[in-house]
Order: sequence, then structure tokens, then C-alpha cells
Amino acid sequence: MYESEGLWRDVDAYFVETLVHEDDALVQARQSGRSTTMPQAEVAPNQGKLLALLVQMVGATRVLEFGTLAGYSTIWLARAVGEHGHVTTFELEPENANIARENLERAGILDRVGVVVGKAAESARRLVEAGTEPYDFVFIDADKPSNPAYLEASLQLSRPGTVIVIDNVVRNGAVIDASSSDERVGGVRAVLTRIAEDDRLDATSLQTVGVKGWDGFTILRRAR
Ligand code: DHB
Ligand code: MG
Repeated sequence: MYESEGLWRDVDAYFVETLVHEDDALVQARQSGRSTTMPQAEVAPNQGKLLALLVQMVGATRVLEFGTLAGYSTIWLARAVGEHGHVTTFELEPENANIARENLERAGILDRVGVVVGKAAESARRLVEAGTEPYDFVFIDADKPSNPAYLEASLQLSRPGTVIVIDNVVRNGAVIDASSSDERVGGVRAVLTRIAEDDRLDATSLQTVGVKGWDGFTILRRAR
């Protein structure tokens, strides 16, 4: 059978070993993810590299992230924006934020990251109220029931051309269950509907397999 999680993992390992270099700071950030309130929820190394490549392809220097945890994806994003770039990342749990700051420091990019502790929707509202300059790239990877709220906030902090990536939109295939009682599935479905209804937004979704199991991303661009 091709549908073997073991084989998915082995292929990820092969791609990572061939194409994706993780330095000690990334390895330690990934491993310390186990000490957060959401163990092993960070993106896979080849997914982190994808985020970094997308940031560079977009030419993004201002990145917004919903869901920091140990800062693993934050390191990929912050390195990709370059030394004059900035990443703002929202984290609910103060203990996770402390772990993240240590990891960002070790990675040498703490000076270009703002770790904002608290409810992401409220943190985002404060940025909107402060008239914050729009972000070029947004990664939404926090509590899934809030996906629609996070998209709304992202759009308020965006400009035409801003690219938004949403993690975990497949959930082992559960995404197609319209009657699911899982609020995380509901959060994904609601945000996809919202995207589809907004004619400013161009989007697609991709399924992924690998060390994160069977899941996927939605990628969208604000056209105007
Ligand atoms: C979960 C959350 C994530 O962001 C992820 O990438 C994997 C799993 C979760 O809620 O279990
Ligand atoms: Mg995720």
C-alpha cells in the first residue's frame, strides 16, 4: 500500500535530509515544542522551508503569525524576511512564549520578532486600532475554531497582494464532513466558505502527507 504513514515519514526524512538544512537552533526549537501546551504541533522541517520560500518569493518583509508555540515556524519566517524584516507572532500561553523567545534568541533573530502574548484576536485588534502598516505575508496556525476570526483580522492588516497561508485544513479528511461536531473542522470549513465568498481573494488548498500525518494548507492571495 502507498497509504502508509511509515512510508510518508521516510519520504519526508529523505526530502529533509536531501534539501532542508536544520541548524542546531531549529532542531532545538522543534524538540522544545514537546514542552509546550501543544506538543509536536509545529510544522515539519520541509513545511517550514516551504513557508520561508513563499516569504522570499513574495518578497515579504513584514510577516504576521497566529500561533507561536515554541517558535519553530517563527524562526523559518524570521530568517526568510532578512535582517531588515519583521515578524509579529501571537501566542496565547505565556509559558510557550518564554520557550519561543529562548529559541528565537538562540536562532539569532529575536531582534526582528515581536512575540505578543494574549488572545490573538485581541492582539490583532490592537494592531488594527494602532493603524499598523499592512503585512505582506500571514501564517494562520493557532486554535482552529478561530480561523474565521483570524482571517478577518488578517484582512484588516493586509493590502492587495498579501499572501495568507492557513495550516491544518484537512485533518485526516474530516474537512469534508459538513455535519462534524468537531469545532476545529467547523473552523476550517467556515474559513473556506468565507474565502470563497470574498471576490477579493484567490485561493487553493493542498493535501499533504508526511510526519504531520494527513493534513494540508490553504493558500490565498488578496487580489485587491
Ligand atoms: C494541531 C494543531 C496544529 O497547528 C498542527 O499543525 C497539528 C495539530 C492540533 O490542534 O492538534
Ligand atoms: Mg499547524
